[in-house]
Amino acid sequence: MGPKKSNQSSRKSQKNAKSQNTAKISQLETRQQLKYSSPQLQQSLLSLLQRTFSSVFADYDTLTTTIQTVKANLYARDYRAAFDSPDCLLAYVVRWSSSRALAYLHVFGDLCPQIPQLLTASSQKRVLCVGGGAGGEVLALAALACDLNAQNVNISAVDISDWDDVFARLRSGMAREWQAAAVKLDNAEASDTANNSISMQFEQFDILDAPCRLDVTKSHVSLDTEDIAVSISNTAPCLDFSLIDLITILFTTNELFAESKPRTMTFLHYISEVCKPGALLLIIESAGSYSHIQIGSKTFPVQLLLDHTLVSESSSSSKKGWEKLIEDDSVWFRVDEKKVTYPLQLENMRFFMRLYRKL
Ligand SMILES: C[S@@+](CC[C@H](N)C(=O)[O-])C[C@H]1O[C@@H](n2cnc3c(N)ncnc32)[C@H](O)[C@@H]1O
Repeated sequence: MGPKKSNQSSRKSQKNAKSQNTAKISQLETRQQLKYSSPQLQQSLLSLLQRTFSSVFADYDTLTTTIQTVKANLYARDYRAAFDSPDCLLAYVVRWSSSRALAYLHVFGDLCPQIPQLLTASSQKRVLCVGGGAGGEVLALAALACDLNAQNVNISAVDISDWDDVFARLRSGMAREWQAAAVKLDNAEASDTANNSISMQFEQFDILDAPCRLDVTKSHVSLDTEDIAVSISNTAPCLDFSLIDLITILFTTNELFAESKPRTMTFLHYISEVCKPGALLLIIESAGSYSHIQIGSKTFPVQLLLDHTLVSESSSSSKKGWEKLIEDDSVWFRVDEKKVTYPLQLENMRFFMRLYRKL
């Protein structure tokens, strides 16, 4: 009886393990379901990039050489070198923003139900994409917003590198190609939406300076009205964090920490102080050891530091921080190359993601 029992229990545990595995797989499959990021919408993003940057694709040999240079600099974490010339920026957009835009469409549309909900709300929506000059997240957000027939959406990208020209070309491409969408896409630099449209703008700015901007403004408050006007006009409206509904920091956190850990911590504390209740904060970064950060003699996954700074620190003090709505330390986005075409390799991506909401 004993062995039989143990056979039975091992069969039972095998069965349990199998059903657990099935549950895991179906969970993954559900995750990978492309409710909003259909192959058609993905192809529309890729075709837009291809047509907008056709001159870059035309000189294929130069492009592949530049891609190798950017890749080597990114691998060596020499981020400044990776983004220091117009050719490098163009190579990044066609090679990396393409895959990123597909993954972000999936994240915004399929993995974070709060984002389609926000985009389709009737109020004015303001989104700030930190480190978003390369346009991957802006393309994905605009595509989703158009697809959802969302209105009154203003998307601002802030980046330390000079993406002005690339961004303007992307914006014109979107306005030209997605004109058929039921909503109007503004082809103008706009800090606010007009005519119920989707508008977007780019601001070259070191985001780690944002907390100082507030101090500058504050230090002028006690002076005469002219001083107040000057200091406020020096701050781009898209950087008024108290108005922002969604902040994205996608594949940029590691760079910020590499530039300065103390300034990055100050920036995180700053947004915790000034963002309005209900504002969403989405952070995505490479999964695994590439995103480990050294503090003193110890090494931590960067997402632990983020959770600690944004959620735990505030819950143990009287300050209102963020609540964590979604956490996943390993999300896979796989491109289905049978369903989309593009002249360059499209990358599968594995990343961690966090979606926080300001309390
Ligand atoms: C690896 S790229 C990621 C770009 C884009 N978010 C994506 O996911 O494809 C990081 C971006 O962050 C920008 N960046 C780095 N440090 C920054 C800072 N202090 N302020 C604003 N942008 C910064 C870089 O110029 C670059 O465009």
